[in-house]
Amino acid sequence: MENKPLIIFVLGGPGAGKGTQCEKIVEKFGFKHLSAGELLREERRSGSPKGDLIETYIKDGNIVPVEITLGLLDTAMQKSEIKQFLIDGFPRNEDNYTGWNKIMANKVNFKFVLFFECSEKTCVERILERGKSSGRSDDNRESLVKRFQTYTNSTTPIIDHYRKDNLVRTIDAEASPDQVFEKVKELFQKECLS
Ligand code: C5P
Ligand code: MG
Repeated sequence: MENKPLIIFVLGGPGAGKGTQCEKIVEKFGFKHLSAGELLREERRSGSPKGDLIETYIKDGNIVPVEITLGLLDTAMQKSEIKQFLIDGFPRNEDNYTGWNKIMANKVNFKFVLFFECSEKTCVERILERGKSSGRSDDNRESLVKRFQTYTNSTTPIIDHYRKDNLVRTIDAEASPDQVFEKVKELFQKECLS
């Protein structure tokens, strides 16, 4: 168990603050942050033959087939010297979930899902604000509607799977980043991750 990488999944709607909080956790607790969405965007930018396919999924707010995402995550995990990971934005649907369980689950020490709970209203405001400068092809109202549909229909059932096993740690993410991080810090200290 000790030699296996430690894994925390980070989930929440688009704009819930997953990336922002992960950066703070990295700074304070020394984790490696792997954002599934960011890895996919990088793969697309790299001129990969899968780039066009990835872009189609991202723009429509759909979830890329797990073979691609898991390959990127696995490579990034192998490359990292730090072996405790925040995997942000994964598993997002049943395909992600079963793919991970089939290939990775027995190779890691999975701790819990860190779930940022935030109203759609707050999330939309944050994303539209971010969209002014993010350059992301999916930070606009049209993609956002689809991203929320995907979140509601495909991601929340996955969170429910973990909740049944008491593996979800929920953080209220409505407040400012610093206020939310206070609660995250308490949780990490309580879970002996500091
Ligand atoms: O998490 P983030 O908002 O960066 O994800 C952006 C997009 O990347 C998602 O809307 C989805 O199209 C894609 N993605 C995916 N599979 C994941 C994570 C993200 O297809 N596990
Ligand atoms: Mg993000």
